[in-house]
Amino acid sequence: MPETAKNNNFDTIIDRKKTDSFKWDMIIKLYGEDVLPMWVADMDFKSPERVINAIIKRAEHGVFGYTFRSDDYYNAIVEWYKKSYKIEIQREWIVNGPGVVPMIAFLINIFTLPGDKVIIQPPVYPPFFRVVVNNGKQLIENRLILKDGKWVMDYENLEKSIDSRTKMIVISNPHNPVGRVWTFEELEKLYRIAKKYNLIIVSDEIHADIVYEPNEFTSFLKVGTENIIVLNSPGKTFNIAGLTNSYGIIPDKTLRQVYKNYIESLELLTGNVLSIEALKAAYKCDEWVANLKSYLKGNRDFAYQFIKEYMPIIKPTLPEGTYLMWLDCSELGLENPQKFFLENARVYLNDGAEFGDSQSVRLNFACPKALLQEGLTRMKNAYDKLLTIEHFTLPDKRFEECKKIRREVFIVGQGIDEKIELDGRDEQAIHFLVRHFGKYIATARIRDIGDYWKVERVAVLKEFRGLGYGKKIMEAIEGYIKKTNPKPITLNAQLEVKEFYEKLGYKPVGHVFHEAGIPHIKMEKVLEI
Ligand SMILES: Cc1ncc(COP(=O)(O)O)c(C=O)c1O
Repeated sequence: MPETAKNNNFDTIIDRKKTDSFKWDMIIKLYGEDVLPMWVADMDFKSPERVINAIIKRAEHGVFGYTFRSDDYYNAIVEWYKKSYKIEIQREWIVNGPGVVPMIAFLINIFTLPGDKVIIQPPVYPPFFRVVVNNGKQLIENRLILKDGKWVMDYENLEKSIDSRTKMIVISNPHNPVGRVWTFEELEKLYRIAKKYNLIIVSDEIHADIVYEPNEFTSFLKVGTENIIVLNSPGKTFNIAGLTNSYGIIPDKTLRQVYKNYIESLELLTGNVLSIEALKAAYKCDEWVANLKSYLKGNRDFAYQFIKEYMPIIKPTLPEGTYLMWLDCSELGLENPQKFFLENARVYLNDGAEFGDSQSVRLNFACPKALLQEGLTRMKNAYDKLLTIEHFTLPDKRFEECKKIRREVFIVGQGIDEKIELDGRDEQAIHFLVRHFGKYIATARIRDIGDYWKVERVAVLKEFRGLGYGKKIMEAIEGYIKKTNPKPITLNAQLEVKEFYEKLGYKPVGHVFHEAGIPHIKMEKVLEI
């Protein structure tokens, strides 16, 4: 087996506790041993064998004196850009730094004056907000917009928000947390605006390697080189963020020199010896990266499908890149979704508030699939607990909620006459009401008509159809009937939902007939007791 292919059993669960890891130990310290951390962007996988061996070899040497970055180091970066991103960069364009985020802070300090404006595009990685504000600059938020289910940049608003104090725009490419892999066209559009107003673009490309087919990463350097500063590091891809090392690529000679002078002024001239060895080894591990991506893609698809199927009120974004998934929880109507899952599922997710959207959370799926399954199952159990199905007879003030849903579905939605909808038999019926996360979603009523129970007025609010609520309410009805007075069930199904009832075991009887102008069919089910 070639060396690069080793160490890619991503299913292995590695105990990260007691390693002073932010992801695990900090959360355990704050919230307890039982919390499953699925937050900060590092992975629960070992680095490639080649990287580990390079570090061991250097450590065994035993002397860790000041170390410079040699030609091998720079060549490794040049080669990585060539083979991974299909772009030729020049060795002298590369500058160094102690981390991508500190480098953004340096650039803000170098190229903007106090009070100048820096644009970021929320929802975005929290340090983007902090590095602007904490360095005395004005933060301008040009929020991404969700257009036809896809997060895009708002160029119109961007241009409107630029004035003479605006100096810089910092982008996440690919974008953490929504996982967009910006296309050439999108970046070019941004480049044109930046050029027009003489802005510096800082393109943080730390997630560049984790991009899923058919999407393709485009480095900003492919779009242009004028006033462009690209930042990157092997930290994410090879899970070596704790080695704190990064680099920048600045084609513009003047900008580059100003940056270098700044680094010199801070005396940040030598690198961390182990991180240097790690980068040189990491950038030879193409095959390991291919395996990692394939594993992560499996996790991504699994998490996305799981959430869609079992937690349908949550709206996940399928990331085109990164191992992070952005979950819109706004329909849950919770004050703090992150807190909800921490307290009720014992899963620690990133709080969307820090990214600029308090109704979302970010899930990190870079872990063995068994852990991902565990985390998602815990979340589902907490989610399910907030679903309640109540039943009652009249008078009961909850009936107002049933009427509201029925009005929405039958009178507004289907144009059924109000008199038909309110047929007066409500007094003889048992009413069912589904509530999830404080939201009333579905209703139905049942009546005892001698040899049969009759199910009537089954109504699920339009935006919650196809999410399993209809099934839930029918199960609750059948459960009630079985427990109280078991008899066959009949219902007059609107023809378009015939298949739904067939799946639940109802059989059509007789011919199609019209009621309130809508084709119906009578259906029947004999309960197995
Ligand atoms: C967009 C982005 N930039 C930078 C970083 C961190 O970079 P560094 O550890 O090199 O400061 C992260 C980590 O999550 C990130 O998502």
